[in-house]
Order: sequence, then C-alpha cells, then structure tokens
Amino acid sequence: MADKNHVPKTTTDAGIPVQSDEHSLTVGRDGPIVLNDHYLLEQMANFNRERIPERQPHAKGSGAFGYFEVTNDVTKYTKAKVFQPGAKTETAMRFSTVAGERGSPDTWRDPRGFSVKFYTEDGNFDMVGNNTPIFFIRDPLKFQHFIRSQKRRADSGLRDHDMQWDFWTLSPESAHQVTYLMGDRGVPKNWREMNGYGSHTYSLINADGEKFWVKFHFLTDLGDGNAYLSQEEADKMAGQDGDYHRRDLFDHISKGEYPSWTLKWQIMPYEDAKTYHINPFDLTKVWPHEDYPLIEVGKLVLNQNPVDWDTQIEQLAFEPNNMVPGIGLSPDKMLLARGFSYADAHRARLGVNYKQIPVNQPKTEVHSYSRAGAMRTKNAVDPVYAPNSYGGPAAQPDLTGEAGLWHSDGDMVREAYTLRKDDDDFSQAGALVRDVMDDAARERLVMNVVGHLCDGVSEKVLLRAFDYWKSIDKDTGEKIEKGVREKLGGKSDAPGMASAQAIEEHEPAE
Ligand code: HEM
Repeated sequence: MADKNHVPKTTTDAGIPVQSDEHSLTVGRDGPIVLNDHYLLEQMANFNRERIPERQPHAKGSGAFGYFEVTNDVTKYTKAKVFQPGAKTETAMRFSTVAGERGSPDTWRDPRGFSVKFYTEDGNFDMVGNNTPIFFIRDPLKFQHFIRSQKRRADSGLRDHDMQWDFWTLSPESAHQVTYLMGDRGVPKNWREMNGYGSHTYSLINADGEKFWVKFHFLTDLGDGNAYLSQEEADKMAGQDGDYHRRDLFDHISKGEYPSWTLKWQIMPYEDAKTYHINPFDLTKVWPHEDYPLIEVGKLVLNQNPVDWDTQIEQLAFEPNNMVPGIGLSPDKMLLARGFSYADAHRARLGVNYKQIPVNQPKTEVHSYSRAGAMRTKNAVDPVYAPNSYGGPAAQPDLTGEAGLWHSDGDMVREAYTLRKDDDDFSQAGALVRDVMDDAARERLVMNVVGHLCDGVSEKVLLRAFDYWKSIDKDTGEKIEKGVREKLGGKSDAPGMASAQAIEEHEPAE
C-alpha cells in the first residue's frame, strides 16, 4: 500500500521516469498520437497480456497463506520432516470450484478444491484434495470426459444437466460422489467451515523402513464441516455476490479471524491392503472409521492474505507429484495419473520455469540439472551435466523416495481393478444417505436432485437417473422419481443432444 507522505514517482517498466499518468504524447494539443509514446504503448501492450490462461478444471478460486504445526508424535508412521514432532512449516492454500470458469459464482453446486502446499525443509510437498473424501471415477482415462461433461456443450456453449446426468448414470462408480454433491456439501457455506480431504490413499515410510497406507483428513476447527447454503440461498447469492466465498476468506483473515483445520490420518498397515474387503486404492470408496480410526497429526492455520492476487494465487501451481521423502503415491490409478497431469498443465499455463515464480519456489536451495528455457530467472551453474568430476550436485542413492514404497507386478492390461468381496458402486453411497444424513438432510438431497433433473434432462437419461438413485437407496430413488414426475407434469420434453438422437434411431424400439 502506498505511503501517502511518500508518493513514489511513476516509471516505465524499465524504471524510466514518466511525465504524465493521464496524457498521451500528441502533435500539438489536438493532434494525433505519435508512435514513440513508448509509455502508452507499454501500458496498452501489458494490459493486453494481463490474463494468463485459466486452469482447465478448478478455474475459480482463491487462497491464503499460513503454517502447519505438528501436534502429535507420528514418527512411527513417517520420517517426513514436515511431520516430525514440533515441526512448523509455511503453507500456501487455494480453494476452488471445479467446473465453473474464472469469473463464475462461488456458490454454484460443485465439489470444492482444497489444495495445500507445504514449503518443507525437503522441498515442496503438495496435498491437492477436495472437500469430499472420494471422487466420481476411478480410472484416469475417464477424467477428461468427466470434466467435459460438467463444463459446456459444443453447440450452444451452455452448461447442460442432460450431459451431466448422461455421464454420471453411465458411470455408476460416480454414485458416492454424486450423493455428496447433491447433498449439503455441494454448496458449502464458506471455505472456512468446510473439511478438506486428500481423498486418495498415499504411502508413508518411517525411519526404520516400515511402510503404511494413509488417508488425509483436514477437519475444520469451526463446527462439524457440514455448514451449507440451501439451493435457494446459493442461487440468490450467485446473483448478489459471485465472489462470496473469496470475500469471506479475505475479510476474516483481514480481521484476524484465522481459519484453522486439524489434520488427522487414517493409517492402514501395509499388509492389510492385500486382503481388505474393499480395494483400499479405489478413490470412490472411504475407509470405515471403525477399521481405521482418525489419528491427530497437527494444525493448519491461514493467517495471511495475498498482497498480489495474480502473482500469488493465480500463478500458484500445485502438483500431486510433489512428495517429499517419507511420503509417496500409491497404486491408486487416479493418483498416479495426477502425478503426470499437473506439471504438464503448469508448463502450458505458466511456462516451463513455473517453479521459479516466487510462490512456487521451495524455501530450500534448488540444485537441479534443469537449465535455460523461457522465463528462466536463476543462473545455471557449471557443470550442467551429471555425472561429472567438477563438484556438481550429487544424488543420494540411499534416500527412500518413490523407489521402494510399494511393490507391483503383472501383465500389461486395460482392465478395471480386481473386485474384492464388498466392492460395489452403490453401498457406500446408500450408507451415506441412510446412516449419515438425517431426515432433513435427506429431504434436501431429494429436492436438490429433483430441481437438477427437472432442468433440461431428457426422458431417456431421466429413466436411467431414477434407476441410479433407486440403486443408491430405494426410498430416496422413489421420492426423486415422484418429485420429478410431479414437477414436470409427466415425461420430460427436453431434447438432449442432436447427435444422441441420431444414435437413438438405430436402437431397437422399446
Ligand atoms: C486442478 C487434472 C483428479 C483436485 C486440476 C488441473 C488439472 C487437473 C489439469 C488444473 C491444474 C492447473 O492448471 O493449475 C486432474 C486429473 C485427475 C484429477 C487428470 C484425475 C485423473 C482430481 C482429484 C482431486 C483433484 C481426484 C481431489 C481429490 C484438484 C484441485 C485442483 C485441480 C483441488 C485445483 C488446484 C489449485 O488450487 O490450483 N486437476 N485432476 N483433482 N484438481 Fe485435479
């Protein structure tokens, strides 16, 4: 913020003093502008390039900075320095919606992103999660299709509930996450009162080389993590203040009301994964807390707002491949694909040297052999190759990183995970409806789904949606069907997609 008693002098980007902030250089007072008004050209050119590409998914969001402090001894599970007793680590965080564009309303129904960057002694560790403990799909080949189905149609450029339900009902593994989405967590009241989850299973290794599987839960210290807006409140707010959640976070931190979360872990012993009754790496499933209770680890606090939103939040780049020694990925296919995808997205969005943007720089020294490329700002140092006999950085062969964390072998196949005894798509979603939601929450779920299905969903997709919900919970499915039929006054006349109708002509008549 400028000091009123000491106003700095305007300069060009090259630091040259500027004569006027208001008047272009012209031939006489009323004459034409001249091409050597470099300051005007610089202002126009810079303005034309102010927007960087938005993130593909999770484009709308905001964030803040703070710290993570370990409050419990978890050294028996991991040697990661960030989780050693007493460790306090600077963090950056970003919250987001998934499908909306950069200017879309914060209160559209959607999962919320919950990304944390820990600037640890061993380099950056990123946990890129959501406000739900599971996800819509379990194979990364479907991710691109899933996101496209939630964004906009090719012809009208409009979002389309028919396309959303078409994808979901043809992908029954989505049932658990869709139940969360259509319930209260689909529109959180704000980001401060919402929980965050790593969602995937990750691996841990301790100083003695013992291995564990882990799930991350960031539980808000404000309430039970279920504070929500009703559909009506959310719709109203979308019109009144599209930046409602961004504003709420910024204002509370400005006032010194710092949001915080308690990090808890579910730990599964390494060998359990082989025989557990559900596949512990399937991202559409939770681990029941009776089997793997929550263990406290530490506290995450946000106490600092950005001072330049563009350089600190829009250029913030999270990547699930940022794992530090003591913690790693797992055989979850989704997680492994995310390990490739994000760095690629950043190279496209921010450029190959995105890790030199201050907010993405680790707080440790970097001695990598990457060099040169667009927008590189750090000087490379000779020798620029390894191995070398000139004292260049040397790797540490005895470091336990990704190597050694888990075992895998088998033939090359394109197939789904092997089913375990209790693996199915609907039971956990049904348990969420019957055992976790109370009557009022179930009623809101039905109303939310009915409202959604009555907005442009074609008859053939509707029929599949009724079956989908009856498979989750019979009573809920019947209420949804009744509600939709009453509201529509019969069958849906929504047309669906022109191309889909062409396919229908070739289907046998029902
Ligand atoms: C953002 C890919 C699954 C959470 C993104 C971005 C990509 C991406 C390309 C944009 C990154 C950027 O431009 O900065 C994928 C792929 C997935 C996947 C390929 C599955 C195969 C998930 C899952 C979660 C998740 C399962 C949560 C558990 C997020 C979050 C962001 C994000 C929170 C926003 C990060 C930020 O705040 O900058 N994802 N994603 N994604 N994704 Fe995913």
